[in-house]
Amino acid sequence: MGELMRRYWQPVAISAQVKEDPIKVKVLGEDLIVFRDKKDRPGLLHNRCCHRGTTLYYGRVEDEGIRCCYHGWMFDVEGRCVDMPCEADNGVGIREKVRQPWYEVQERYGLIFAYMGPPEKRPAFTRWSNLEDVQEGQKLLQVGPVFASGADRSVDYIDCNWLQHWENTLDPFHVQVLHATFSTVQFVEEFGIMPTVDWGSDELGAHYVAYRDLEDGRKVDRVTCVWWPNTRSVPSVELKPGPGHNLSWVVPQDDETCRSFAVFKVPEDFEMEGAEAIPGKKWSEMTEEEHRRYPGDWEAQSGQGPISLHSEEHLAGSDGAIRLIRAGLRDQLKTLENGGDPAGVFFDDKDAYMEVTSGNFFHD
Ligand code: FES
Ligand SMILES: [Fe+2]
Repeated sequence: MGELMRRYWQPVAISAQVKEDPIKVKVLGEDLIVFRDKKDRPGLLHNRCCHRGTTLYYGRVEDEGIRCCYHGWMFDVEGRCVDMPCEADNGVGIREKVRQPWYEVQERYGLIFAYMGPPEKRPAFTRWSNLEDVQEGQKLLQVGPVFASGADRSVDYIDCNWLQHWENTLDPFHVQVLHATFSTVQFVEEFGIMPTVDWGSDELGAHYVAYRDLEDGRKVDRVTCVWWPNTRSVPSVELKPGPGHNLSWVVPQDDETCRSFAVFKVPEDFEMEGAEAIPGKKWSEMTEEEHRRYPGDWEAQSGQGPISLHSEEHLAGSDGAIRLIRAGLRDQLKTLENGGDPAGVFFDDKDAYMEVTSGNFFHD
């Protein structure tokens, strides 16, 4: 799966949070640092200096790049060594022979995306319909990681395998139990109505439609979508009518932890408050007893263990979309094994566009 994820541009940080001081990030099992040079260019380098291995986290950004604290080697955002102050002539003639491992990055939608796969397979950056064309009076808002039980920004990562978190996106029935009747009403009362559900998948991803007959006589069709291997769009959890205005990526830090980067298209004056998971408290402020009494997505998903064992599960009829997700990912892995390019990887800018069809659609 790591090999598959490396064929896509993956978000590694929120642009606005990356300033000159290096930030540690762990992506797909690799310890990296992300920083911004004085020309405002972001850089993503291997954490350990290629000289004698101390961390560049203690480095300092100067005009031409980041300088290692130990012996002062300086690397630009593409890992070129541009100074070796302890060597004759500042290392001219030998510094060209080393390169700090680095990954190509680009900033889109207010996130820093990295490409960590084979250079010859580098895809075009995929544009997503619902994040394009930001109009006057609108902005893109970046949040990470997001918990459905409260966007608590004090939490930096999710402590379970990425798939447990991502496949929850296509689990329409837990919304009625976990989010609306078992703990407390975590989003809206209407989710307490058990939906009837359709699901489907195609080459690019999978979706479900949850149908509910509301008490006021209206009907709402809630469409949630995922795209291989780790992207998704969840419509408004407040059940606001209309198309889904967000997209998010679930990116493994390693096998047992992950992060989720979300982008929302919102009115310019909209601020997302650190949502409360239970009245008066953010998720991170809850006591152990409150976590036990009012479990949400975090409790359910990390409660599956660091890596849930599929061999011990008993999938039922309501897990249809989970089956689709797993089958879809297996297909992508087969394609990769056979030397092909996975779905949703485009090499030409004009093809690299995805239509997002999630939303809450009301009708009589
Ligand atoms: S370990 Fe970085 S310059 Fe020596
Ligand atoms: Fe959930």
